[in-house]
Amino acid sequence: MRDCIKHQNMGMALICFLLLSLSIVSCSPASPVAQPEATVALPAGSTLRALAQAHGLSIGAAVNVAALDGDPNYDRLLGYEFNMVTPENAMKFDQTEPEQDVYTFAAADKIVDFARSHGMQVRGHNLVWYENLPDWLTQGHFSRDQLMAILHDHITTVVSHYAAQVNIWDVVNEGIDDNGNLRDSFWLRALGPQYIDLAFRWAHEANPQAKLFYNDYGGEGLGHKSDAIYNLVKSLLQRKVPISGVGLQMHISLDNAPAPSAVIANMKRLAALGLQVQITEMDVAVQNDTRPMSARLAAQAGIYASMLHACLSVHQCTAFVLWGFTDRYSWIPQITGHSDAPLIFDTDYRPKPAYYALASALKTGSLPAAIFLSISASGLMNSSSLSQ
Ligand code: G3I
Repeated sequence: MRDCIKHQNMGMALICFLLLSLSIVSCSPASPVAQPEATVALPAGSTLRALAQAHGLSIGAAVNVAALDGDPNYDRLLGYEFNMVTPENAMKFDQTEPEQDVYTFAAADKIVDFARSHGMQVRGHNLVWYENLPDWLTQGHFSRDQLMAILHDHITTVVSHYAAQVNIWDVVNEGIDDNGNLRDSFWLRALGPQYIDLAFRWAHEANPQAKLFYNDYGGEGLGHKSDAIYNLVKSLLQRKVPISGVGLQMHISLDNAPAPSAVIANMKRLAALGLQVQITEMDVAVQNDTRPMSARLAAQAGIYASMLHACLSVHQCTAFVLWGFTDRYSWIPQITGHSDAPLIFDTDYRPKPAYYALASALKTGSLPAAIFLSISASGLMNSSSLSQ
């Protein structure tokens, strides 16, 4: 085509014009919107998933289905770096049963299909929560028996639908409030405290192979909330409720990260009950801090590495999952209305210091201070990854 354009003859120029038009038409998308190519550069060196696999650890990220659908850079990095996914919203009650007895799995199926084609495990999230309940349920004026039947049907249908692909479920999410009491929720009011036992038993009946988790925030270290979670799961085990583990969400910020020693102690006491633990929703908000962004991102990296190190120090900590992976789609700015940078890739998919800190922690298995020295010395913390 370039030779053609250089040609001076008029007749030839006309042919060139026609050819050029044809080539534009033939390159035009058949559908109105073409799927763009993935253009993001992948980080050099071993992937997080390869490094984690060497420890027998799953490393994951929550998945935003709109991003998975429309942003090929998102898909490319997700499949490359992680070996586990959690649907961020697509498996919640109002998404999977928007009308009574009408189940919609299309969005969650996309995530599960992506996971299957990229050799990733899926953490099902979640079966029983006080949020994301559809109006038909909360406004429905059902009797206690009807609500029992509704919850039984919901858990059975969702867990059975994914029986072949989802072998870990957050069965009860955030069932304890910030004071350490059973949360005054729709389900507690509807069914009483036994809703928790019932949910685990029904999930187990629907898929006896699945690992069933209680998942909560604010109970990562030691304190009254983690004591309440510990007491709850201990009582479930005493009643022979089929629970396999506890999810420590780890939504934290620079000023309230739990002490790694407290996280390790908490994990160890849960492990001593025979349970697994998993870090299930980690992000580290940086907006409430007055230091320059470079200092905040360095502090954030240290926190990520120390929590990963805590997980690596407890054999029963089997997964380390982030609530997203790129700042581009984090839930936090949506909720607070302020920009933030809580994840390990920036909004343009560049790895942040936290990414290198996690990679280094997985490579060396060493403590955060040593991780920091080694990433500074190796020049991995370059200025572009620190500038935000
Ligand atoms: O889908 C609508 C979209 O159509 C609309 O344009 C948009 C306008 O705001 O809202 C969209 O829905 C939002 C959805 O996120 C997707 O972005 C909901 O309003 C919003 O409430 C929902 O928030 C989610 C929140 O759970 C409540 O379900 C967050 O994305 C999700 O990150 C968050 O995740 C929870 C975990 O499930 C449990 N642990 C805490 C964690 C953070 O809150």
